[in-house]
Amino acid sequence: SAERDAVIERIKTLLKERDAVLVAHYYVHEDLQRIAEETGGCVSDSLDMARFGQEHPASTLVVAGVRFMGETAKILSPEKTVLMPTLEAECSLDLGCPADAFEAFCDAHPDRTVVVYSNTSARVKARADYVVTSSIAVKLVEHLKAQGKKILWAPDRHLGHYIRETTGADMVLWDATCVVHDEFRTRGLDDLKKAHPEAAVLVHPESPAGVIAQADAVGSTSQLIKAARELPHPTLIVATDSGIFYKMRQAAPHKTFIEAPTGGHSATCRSCAHCPWMAMNGLHNLLQVLEQGGNEVQVDESVREGALRSTQRMLDFAR
Ligand code: 13P
Ligand code: SF4
Repeated sequence: SAERDAVIERIKTLLKERDAVLVAHYYVHEDLQRIAEETGGCVSDSLDMARFGQEHPASTLVVAGVRFMGETAKILSPEKTVLMPTLEAECSLDLGCPADAFEAFCDAHPDRTVVVYSNTSARVKARADYVVTSSIAVKLVEHLKAQGKKILWAPDRHLGHYIRETTGADMVLWDATCVVHDEFRTRGLDDLKKAHPEAAVLVHPESPAGVIAQADAVGSTSQLIKAARELPHPTLIVATDSGIFYKMRQAAPHKTFIEAPTGGHSATCRSCAHCPWMAMNGLHNLLQVLEQGGNEVQVDESVREGALRSTQRMLDFAR
């Protein structure tokens, strides 16, 4: 509509006027992904969002995603202003790993190297030896295993289980899940594969083990988009948040995409796999934060220093 176009133009103008750049995750609404693309921002997985925010010279980063993504940007760039369309966008993994309980868990396993997923609070990161995202988790744990290290992993138990199976490392796991990926179902996927023998299955490793076991490619959102482009299959069954289809269709325009089946919802729900917190980012709250400020991400300095150490190790390892 004309109103929507006017809002988009206003956002673009304000980004320029504010020396601000938009850093968006693949799961946010495609309008926001498009604005990021068209204004020199970035649309990517959580590792590349962190890297981009740290390296970009803009004085303000506007992070469209969930809270831990904004916090990571602030941890890495304390001198920058970090804004988010909403500060209410949580993540069930972050919520499922409260810092006090996590610190007690670490205290109970003093002999283990603490590796945490980036989907955590700054305080949890501050207690960790390493932060990882799904794109480098297996590689980092392989590296630590080769040094004879035993691992404490938090918070996603499906991803932890997958890393343990893949690397054979000695790992104790925290028990939290992603509300989106935990819903993918083995049984429905079996049936769908039979109905589409020509299809490849792409799975984010926050999904249950039985779903991962049926995958032709397992990886972070960026890695799944790459697989969509490179695999020869004409049809792709995708077990991750449906926000990814915007970029996947760009990457492989002639292929057919099918959402992997989810459980726990009514049969009439056609797009259950969408993160409710990612969905809180929209054109209107993006415009509002650019017009009025507010929604600035703050990380307490004493916590930030610890979180920077483990987060910077992730970026150094990923190089
Ligand atoms: P990626 O690092 O693969 O983008 O994943 C982030 C996330 O929140 C997945 O649910
Ligand atoms: Fe967290 Fe899952 Fe949402 Fe990703 S999709 S932000 S892991 S709740």
